[in-house]
Order: sequence, then C-alpha cells, then structure tokens
Amino acid sequence: MPATSANLGPGFDAFGLALALYDELTVLPGGSGVSVEVSGAGAGEVALDESHLVVRALRAGLDALGVSVPEFVLKCTNRVPHGRGLGSSSAAIVGGIAAAYGLAGVALDREHIVALANELEGHPDNVAAAALGGFTTAWVDGGVGRAVRAEPVEGLRATVYVPEVRVLTKQARGLLPDVVPHADAAANAGRAALLVTAITSRPGLLMTATEDRLHQEHREPVMPETLALVHKLRGSGLAAVVSGAGPTVLVLDALSGKKIPVLPAAPDGWTRLDLAIDPAGVQVWSTALDGESSPRAE
Ligand SMILES: Nc1ncnc2c1ncn2[C@@H]1O[C@H](COP(=O)(O)OP(=O)(O)OP(=O)(O)O)[C@@H](O)[C@H]1O
Ligand SMILES: [Mg+2]
Repeated sequence: MPATSANLGPGFDAFGLALALYDELTVLPGGSGVSVEVSGAGAGEVALDESHLVVRALRAGLDALGVSVPEFVLKCTNRVPHGRGLGSSSAAIVGGIAAAYGLAGVALDREHIVALANELEGHPDNVAAAALGGFTTAWVDGGVGRAVRAEPVEGLRATVYVPEVRVLTKQARGLLPDVVPHADAAANAGRAALLVTAITSRPGLLMTATEDRLHQEHREPVMPETLALVHKLRGSGLAAVVSGAGPTVLVLDALSGKKIPVLPAAPDGWTRLDLAIDPAGVQVWSTALDGESSPRAE
C-alpha cells in the first residue's frame, strides 16, 4: 500500500497523490487467535491485538465480504512514517481491506474499498489515493466516500521533507477557523481547479496552482519549522506545500529531459525522499488460493 499526500495546497480534504513508498502486509490464516508482527515504522508503538488498525480494517473487509477468518498471523513491514502527514493510517486501512479481498479470493473492488476505508478513516482524501493510485479527487456523497483518479503528467516527482517530530492530525485540524472570508474561499476554488490541469498536463503552472489560503498558515503555531520551510522553498520557485495535516513538506515538480530542478538538502533533523508517483494503488500479490494474502504495491 502506498504512502499518500493529501490536500496538495488548495484541495483541502479532496486531493490525494499516491507515492512510491510502500507498507507491505502478509496474512497467514490459522494459528490460534490473532497474532501481529510489526517491523519498521510503528514497531514497538502500535497495538499488537484486535485493536491494531490493519486488523480492524481486515475485520471490516471480511465482514463486508461475508467471509470468516477468525484466526490468523499478520506480518507488517512498514516504511510509511507515522503521524507525519504521509497517510500511514490510510495505508493501514486500505491494506487491511485489500487483504480481506485477497483472503476471500475476490478481485479488488476499488470503489468499495474507498467507501469502506472512508468510514474507518473519517475522511476520503488519503484513502482514495491509496486505493486508486495516481492523483485523486475525493468527496463524500450522502455519507459515502467516493473518488476519481487522474493520470499525473509524465515525470511528475514528489519530494518530501520529513521531520522527526509528529503532529497529531486532530491537533492540526483544531486550529482551523470555522468561517473564512469569501475571497479566500474563491481563491482556493480557482487554484484547486487549476491544480487538476497543472498535475495532469501543465506542470509549469504548479507554483501558482499550489497556493492555499484556507489551512496551511493556520497550522503555523504547531509546526513553525514546516511553514518556514514551505516559505523558503516557495521563495526559491519550488511548489512546496504542507503534506496532509503536516508536519511533512511536499514539493512537486516535473522532470523534463531539459531541466532537472535542483532541490535543497534536508534541514538538520529532517529526511528528504525523492519519490515517484505510485500509479496503481494497493495491490494483492497472492490470494486465498495459495493460502495467504500479501497486499502491497509494485
Ligand atoms: N501501519 C499501521 N499499523 C497500525 N497502526 C497504524 C499504522 N499506520 C498508522 N497507524 C495508526 O495511525 C496513527 C497515525 O495516524 P495519523 O492519521 O495521525 O497520521 P498519518 O496517517 O501518518 O498522517 P496523515 O493522516 O496526516 O497523512 C499511528 O499513530 C497509529 O496509531
Ligand atoms: Mg492519517
């Protein structure tokens, strides 16, 4: 399951981008009870029982598919850092549901995965990109999470600057005002529409199209270094935004044959990752037929 970056500047709670950084799961039916093994991100921190997020999503998926697998061993290899704005919770939820499809021996119904994952996650932007890959626009219709996928322009690259510190999504959201000026709402609507064109065919417009007036600056009190880095990168002509609820910073650019943008090194205590766009969303590699389910993405 891929990491994902949501919002992308103006598309608050709507846009998502799937990134080529993956968590992997293996589910082996049998054993006694539920046993969870975790390596990588979250090891030693996340619960190892029924309350583990992947287990909860797997159970929800199995229930929805009418399949019973009471006992299993779940092995998680996690590369998506937790609590940084790179969609680790969505990867876990979408992966757990996809594993249920694998165990049931049923081909993935990605629309259903978006809807069910949205119920568990509470918002559809990250789960949409994790389920569909590429660039997604998500919305909620009568309580049901839905999404469409668009193909990013060739050579689109995402660079993420990931700090050591974590910021709870709840805390970052709590800072947002209930009411915004009409002019700011109008500016964001226009930029969001423009971003669809910029990401899919006109990357030269990315700088303008990633401008936001609704949420990023409000998060400054809990992530001052993130906003400082966004301002610095934008000041040097790079399309930088807060990734999801932060504190990671995402820079979008397109590698063309002629011009390869030079990106600055990560500040002290931060890690920089240059990532391709994940094209396809969650993948199941083997299924119930050979006795195990291993959702991951190629
Ligand atoms: N692979 C996983 N296995 C189990 N629990 C997980 C996993 N990934 C995330 N979680 C749970 O979700 C929490 C992180 O979720 P949170 O939504 O705050 O951050 P995020 O998903 O990494 O970033 P964002 O939602 O801003 O993109 C973790 O602390 C952990 O409890
Ligand atoms: Mg999350």
